[in-house]
Parts: sequence; C-alpha cells; structure tokens
Amino acid sequence: MSTAKKEYKRVTVKSLVDMKKNGEKISMLTAYDYSMAKIVDAANVDVILVGDSASNVMAGHETTLPITLDQMIYHASSVIRAVNRALVVVDIPFGSYQSDPKEALRSAIRIMKESGAHAVKVEGGQEIKESVKRILNAGIPVMGHLGLTPQSIYKFGTYTVRAKEVDEADKLIEDAKLLEKMGCFAIVLEKIPAKLAKEVAESVSIPIIGIGAGNGVDGQVLVIHDLLGITQEFNPRFLRRYLNLFEEMGNAISKYVDDVKTKDFPSDEEQY
Ligand code: KIV
Repeated sequence: MSTAKKEYKRVTVKSLVDMKKNGEKISMLTAYDYSMAKIVDAANVDVILVGDSASNVMAGHETTLPITLDQMIYHASSVIRAVNRALVVVDIPFGSYQSDPKEALRSAIRIMKESGAHAVKVEGGQEIKESVKRILNAGIPVMGHLGLTPQSIYKFGTYTVRAKEVDEADKLIEDAKLLEKMGCFAIVLEKIPAKLAKEVAESVSIPIIGIGAGNGVDGQVLVIHDLLGITQEFNPRFLRRYLNLFEEMGNAISKYVDDVKTKDFPSDEEQY
C-alpha cells in the first residue's frame, strides 16, 4: 500500500485540499483538553476537532445539545495551547448558529478570537446556508457536517445509518455541492452508506472526512475516547478500538489503591 506523504510543518485548510489532490488520506481526531491534544498533535494527526462530543465524553451528557458556547471556547483554548502542527477545528454548539446568521457570525467570531482556533464546524446544508455564508464572508474557514448530524438527534429519533433512501441521499449530495460552492474547506460525513460517501467525495473538490462512511472518502475522523477504549458502552460497527484504556487505567489505579492501603507507597526512596 502506498503511503507517500508530503511533510507539513503546520497543517492549513489549503494543506487539506492539497492532500486530497495528492491522494493522501487525512487523519482527524477529537481532543478537548491540553494534555490529550499534546499527545494527538505529537502523533502527527492532521486535524484536531474540538467536537461538541465533549458534551458526551467530557461532561457525561446523553447528547451533544447541552454544551454551551462558553464551554466549547474553554475546551478549544486548552487544545490550542498544546498544538504546534495540526489544524484545529471547533464545533459551533447547538443553539449558537441556527436561529439567525448574525448570531452564527457572533458565535464563530467568539470561538476564533477567544480560543485562537483555526476554523469552525457546523451541522447541516441548505437550512443553514445564510449562516455559513455570513461566517465565510468574515474570513472564517468553515467545515460542514452532513449525514448523521448529532445536533438533530431528536428530529431523527435514532443514531442509525442516514441517507439510505434515495430522497435523503439526493439531498445530501446537493447539500455537499452547496457547501463546496459557498466556500467550505471540507465536509464531515457521518454514518452513511460507503457507496454514497464515495460518490460525494468524487463529486466535490474539497476533502470529505468520514466517520462510519467507509473507505472511499478523503480522510477519517474518530472520537479519541472511543479509539482509546476509554468509552466502553459505545460500540458501532465503524469503530476500531486501538487500546482498552478503561481496563488499563483501571488496573493501574487499583494497583495504586492497593499500594496505599498496604503502605507499600510511598517507599523510602519516594519520600524526603
Ligand atoms: O463532535 C464530534 O466529535 C464530531 C465528530 C463525531 C465528527 O462531530
């Protein structure tokens, strides 16, 4: 398998378009805090997403809806302080861009100004077109997100695969073309049939990053807590777990508890 790679000292929105042109797949992962972002960036992940999945994995909410703009800015600024290479994209949270384009722009500006992020991400196509336009006109790079859009979970009712029916698939293709035409620099496609995702990737010139969207797209994104096996209960087919950190951390912590209880810790060498 060819893994030809150009070196990128700093990944920009332009680097991602170059990667697509050169056939180099784009790696993207979430991070929400300084220490994790340092590890992710040092491992040469191209794009770090400060996702509103922080609402689930950091705060323990069932959905992404409760997280606020202030909380997203807090997470994003912690990540930004850690990152030297990756492009940092921040989700604009639910309720901060859907109601009117001016509010959308104000939210995007707050994220860029207060966290130092490099770009924002929004969920939807045609419905949020005016907001996307307004943000782009201010010079802020926008990543789209289509397919299963978790901020609309109560409209869908379930987390099952989207766009299996022709009407929804057609709308998704139209939305992707619209986002490209307006000037978005990339699009996330979540949980849709691989064949449709490939078709979208082939019909636009901007990078398509998939999560549960197969291998025919331009890059992949996962939630870091899922990849590392910190989350246990979430087991979709698309998820590849690279570690079982829940178990490994649990074992280490149990050993510490044991060492404290048995007075093994601290030893003579571990005190002043
Ligand atoms: O919030 C998030 O982590 C996301 C990814 C799942 C793409 O939007």
